[in-house]
Amino acid sequence: MMAKKLSERKLAVLGAGKLGGILLRAYLKQGLFAAKHVAATVSHGEKAAALGKALGVAVTTDNRKAVQGAEIVLLCVKPQVVGEVLKEIRPKLGPKTLVISVAASVPTSYMEKRLGGKIPVVRAMPNTCSTVDCGMTGICRGSHATAEDLETARAMFDAVGRTVVVDEKHMDAVTGLSASGPAFAYIILESLAEAGVKVGLPRDVATLLAAQTMKGAASVVLETGEHPAQLKDAVTTPAGCTIDGIMELEEGKLRVTLIKAVVKATHRAGELLFEK
Ligand SMILES: NC(=O)c1ccc[n+]([C@@H]2O[C@H](COP(=O)([O-])OP(=O)(O)OC[C@H]3O[C@@H](n4cnc5c(N)ncnc54)[C@H](OP(=O)(O)O)[C@@H]3O)[C@@H](O)[C@H]2O)c1
Repeated sequence: MMAKKLSERKLAVLGAGKLGGILLRAYLKQGLFAAKHVAATVSHGEKAAALGKALGVAVTTDNRKAVQGAEIVLLCVKPQVVGEVLKEIRPKLGPKTLVISVAASVPTSYMEKRLGGKIPVVRAMPNTCSTVDCGMTGICRGSHATAEDLETARAMFDAVGRTVVVDEKHMDAVTGLSASGPAFAYIILESLAEAGVKVGLPRDVATLLAAQTMKGAASVVLETGEHPAQLKDAVTTPAGCTIDGIMELEEGKLRVTLIKAVVKATHRAGELLFEK
């Protein structure tokens, strides 16, 4: 059980851009956190003003002010900015302030070094499907984070989808698969819709058929736990149409192409921190 309800805890979201904004919006909409206990930052003053007005929370460009009294700091800035932001906020953090970072490529040890002391750190890798509460997030804890800290982080990502706890060595793989994954899925979906247009369907109908089919197939895998290959076999009538389509996919090397895409994205995920 969590010691204190999230809605009673003070949250600071630093770098409320695309991903930070998605999470913050969801928390406020669901009442997971109370607006009066939330502060957020971005780097441009005019964006801060617009976001503050839209969300009804305090949004500034002042990270130090935002973390004052915060019990949870959700760090959503780009990987290259994490170091300087941590150094900046460090003097204002309490010894037990939980720091949760969604930055790709940034290890918990890197953050712990810059924070000093025994500040608990959780590293998370969500995806943008969190925007419709259908996100997928991998989380792992640093050396000072407790099981309760991990549960707090889990609750914050469960609120926008599913969460899986992984060893930190797998975080780049999570980045390459489920964080980059929506982009890969959109390309597949767009191609299926294009195919529908090619065989004569109106584009809006083709897009609906493609999207609902992908959503349906994913839901069957999640709900039945059956192996995708077995489910594929059930669609594939001997000498029917599906097997002809599958032959085209095999010839076009769809499988190996997708595998290579995730492998590349995973490798790239390990590099981001070291770039300026
Ligand atoms: N997008 C994804 O699918 C995804 C998925 C998983 C993880 N992530 C991670 O999420 C993080 C953010 O990605 P994003 O796509 O949301 O990027 P983004 O939209 O560019 O958001 C970054 C935000 O950080 C703000 N910022 C920059 N410097 C700052 C500073 N010194 N102090 C406070 N705020 C600062 C920016 O402010 P301005 O808006 O004023 O420039 C912007 O709002 C990255 O580390 C990324 O690895 C992203």
